[in-house]
Amino acid sequence: MNELILNDRIIQTDLSPGITLLDFVRYEQHLKGTKIGCREGDCGACTVLLGSLDTNGKVRYRSVTSCISPLGNAFGKHVVTIDGLTMPQLTPVQQALVDEGGSQCGFCTPGFAVSLTGYCLSCTRANHDTAVASVDGNICRCTGYKSIERSIDKIVEQIPEINHVENLVRDGFIPEYFTDIPEKLKDLKNVKTGKHTSSTVVGGGTDLYVQIPDDLAGAKVNLVSRKAVRPGIEINGKTCRLAANTTATEMLESEEFNRIFPELNQHLKLVSSTPIRNMGTLAGNLVNASPIGDLTIFFLALNATVILSGKKKKSLPLREFYLGYKTLAKAPGDLVEAVEFRIPKKHTHFNFEKVCKRTHLDIASVNSAMLIKVDENRIKKIHLSAGGIGPTPSYLEQTSKALRNQSLTAETIKNGAEILAQEISPISDVRGSEEYKRLLLRQLYFAHFLKLFPDHFTLTDLI
Ligand SMILES: Cc1cc2nc3c(=O)[nH]c(=O)nc-3n(C[C@H](O)[C@H](O)[C@H](O)COP(=O)(O)OP(=O)(O)OC[C@H]3O[C@@H](n4cnc5c(N)ncnc54)[C@H](O)[C@@H]3O)c2cc1C
Ligand code: FES
Ligand code: FES
Repeated sequence: MNELILNDRIIQTDLSPGITLLDFVRYEQHLKGTKIGCREGDCGACTVLLGSLDTNGKVRYRSVTSCISPLGNAFGKHVVTIDGLTMPQLTPVQQALVDEGGSQCGFCTPGFAVSLTGYCLSCTRANHDTAVASVDGNICRCTGYKSIERSIDKIVEQIPEINHVENLVRDGFIPEYFTDIPEKLKDLKNVKTGKHTSSTVVGGGTDLYVQIPDDLAGAKVNLVSRKAVRPGIEINGKTCRLAANTTATEMLESEEFNRIFPELNQHLKLVSSTPIRNMGTLAGNLVNASPIGDLTIFFLALNATVILSGKKKKSLPLREFYLGYKTLAKAPGDLVEAVEFRIPKKHTHFNFEKVCKRTHLDIASVNSAMLIKVDENRIKKIHLSAGGIGPTPSYLEQTSKALRNQSLTAETIKNGAEILAQEISPISDVRGSEEYKRLLLRQLYFAHFLKLFPDHFTLTDLI
């Protein structure tokens, strides 16, 4: 038996941890407020909150798309569905959606209300931009976003300045039972880690549950995300180490990581959506081996090392991890345990660029990252990576080599662009034609230099 708290009830279940949280909520618990739209994590109709006990004894709530989340990842946690927010009167979130005409057919509304309640519970300083960003994973097909935006502004005005649970209960944002949840979570028994060595390894499930949801429902799953690694992001002298199950949200919330990458918010805001960033793991992105995996491209330019644990622990440079299309330099049973990189030093700069067909909630047509160290106008170190231009996420070895030890001039960059054109082998597909992707990467390559060295070049110097 495993235990979780669903809204205000402790539930014991011996159901397979591989079924989706959505199916558990709707078909086992008969809570039909949570809707089914795409079943691919794209629309947000199925959004629920997942609350985990933090080291400070408080519960940290995150929005997740329940359609691609394994039930097992909710064991030992507090699951909040729209049904669990129901009170005799509407909450300020629900009332604002009603008052501003933010709901028409109403199908998307539970998802919006849950995401926004998650925002009320977790935001550090409520404002228009971050509140709007909290519904970046919710799609509305009929109302039009302006009325939803007006509702959001109304909600932001009402969030108490100190948004702890007691104040949110007092102001009617959440029901009273929320105050008892930390104690109840501490008391949950029989929470198994769900480890089966001969089973499918699942992190956040955001890739696997889109690809093979039916296979996973009855399968034995090794839920590696459940093993809390503290701290998930660790600085050891000159090195930064990230546990395999670190999510993009954890990177965004890490002070250390933001210190190393001052533009992190800009870099990661176009990676999936808030609920997917809350669930998807770094290891899942690396092992999925998509040629356009954003985190993979990011870490390739950091010249990161992958640490594998299997029969024997071993580590290898991430750039040697990809042998061919979806073929990895690891034995089937090997798990990614962590990723490490040298913290960029003085005179070292980093940039990440991504172009998609649609600005938000889309995978890249082409993406690229660059780490560069320039001292006395000479390129002392450079690592370039790009996705969407070959069968694997690519470390651009030849271009990086050609630029190393050259002076940082427009001429050097233009020469590098020639090598880059020879090094890549994009193909035409739904994300764009071969010519388009070539042109795109060339522009992203220039964008790295223009962003990092705005006083050195203008675009006309480079083209
Ligand atoms: C709506 C939506 C939008 C998305 N947008 C983006 C995007 O913009 N950019 C992007 O890059 N990706 C995107 N993705 C893809 C996905 O979210 C990421 O690739 C994510 O990082 C996958 O991590 P996960 O933990 O969910 O992977 P899972 O689905 O759990 O696993 C993926 C693979 O990794 C393996 N695996 C997981 N953990 C380990 C481990 N520790 N050791 C060994 N193997 C392991 C699994 O067995 C599986 O083969 C999107 C997905 C969805 C559904
Ligand atoms: S049903 Fe669309 S995100 Fe889950
Ligand atoms: S109100 Fe109809 S989809 Fe949003």
